[in-house]
Amino acid sequence: MTLPATPALVLQLAKILGRRQAKQELRWMQDTLLNKHQNDEKSFLMNQMIKRRIAGEPLQYILGTQPFGHLELLVRKPVLIPRPETEDWTIRLASLLSPSADRPLKLLDLCTGSGCIPLLLCHLWQKGSLRAVGVDVSHDALQLAKDNAKRVNVSSPQTLEPVDDFQEAKKTSNTFVGIHADILDADFIKGPEISTMQPFDVVTSNPPYIPKHEYDGLPPSVRDYEDPAALLGDPPSPRADELNESHRDHDRRGLRFYRAIADLIGNHRLVKEGGLAVLEVGHDQSRDVAALMSKNAKVSRTEIWKDPWGVERCVLAWK
Ligand SMILES: C[S@@+](CC[C@H](N)C(=O)[O-])C[C@H]1O[C@@H](n2cnc3c(N)ncnc32)[C@H](O)[C@@H]1O
Repeated sequence: MTLPATPALVLQLAKILGRRQAKQELRWMQDTLLNKHQNDEKSFLMNQMIKRRIAGEPLQYILGTQPFGHLELLVRKPVLIPRPETEDWTIRLASLLSPSADRPLKLLDLCTGSGCIPLLLCHLWQKGSLRAVGVDVSHDALQLAKDNAKRVNVSSPQTLEPVDDFQEAKKTSNTFVGIHADILDADFIKGPEISTMQPFDVVTSNPPYIPKHEYDGLPPSVRDYEDPAALLGDPPSPRADELNESHRDHDRRGLRFYRAIADLIGNHRLVKEGGLAVLEVGHDQSRDVAALMSKNAKVSRTEIWKDPWGVERCVLAWK
């Protein structure tokens, strides 16, 4: 392959990644630049990309996209890069339920990040069968989710349209609305967007779930580039001294967000009777999260899904 790049940089990359992987990544970088730039510009940009990769930046941020199901989503630092585990259960969830324009679903995706979960469902489910709301505390994430909705042609109104308009719109498209809110503040559901939409048929979430002691051991390609707030399941709490020992123990194990979600479902009409919550979990958290959902969210049944690598990755809970 003839590359518009400095050979010494290519060599350095191959040393770090191995020849095969480097060759593949260089091809993707080249494809990204294809037809977009003049030749002299191309070699400057290609060298820049290789230098960023040598410095340890995740390839997805350099290329600017990541496949998720059949979608090619935008990714931007520091918003979390969608992972294959999440892609796997989202596709599985899509085949578990079969909404239609006559039986549409309302879905709430907590901690939506790039919007990958609801946007893929918008694509996999029939037109007019899904009205999704994504919530995130990060403005960067919300902007990215909205840009992704546009990229994959999912209608993304600024605000939720009145029900009658939705009845009209649902005949033609699924919708995604992004909302800025902190889900650890239980009052967030009193906001107009959530209060007019609830109860939801489905709540999905891949919340931050990594405890600090595990986070410290993550590779620099994660710690130096992705938002710690997207990963840490025990973020510093302003009211830490008010927590009881059981809550402190949850926090130490990265379960803070699951407790908050379980409390929201248990104490409010967030999910309708018979509705479903689907929560991605860390490698050793499935049993604790299932217990939290039974006790705090008062669900009637739980199920655990493994990911393709055999790890218990997802808790499903039926209200
Ligand atoms: C693990 S990422 C998941 C992103 C996306 N759903 C995915 O699966 O790729 C967690 C997301 O939670 C958001 N987040 C962190 N704390 C939050 C909070 N208190 N309220 C709402 N969102 C929060 C982060 O900004 C981040 O986008």
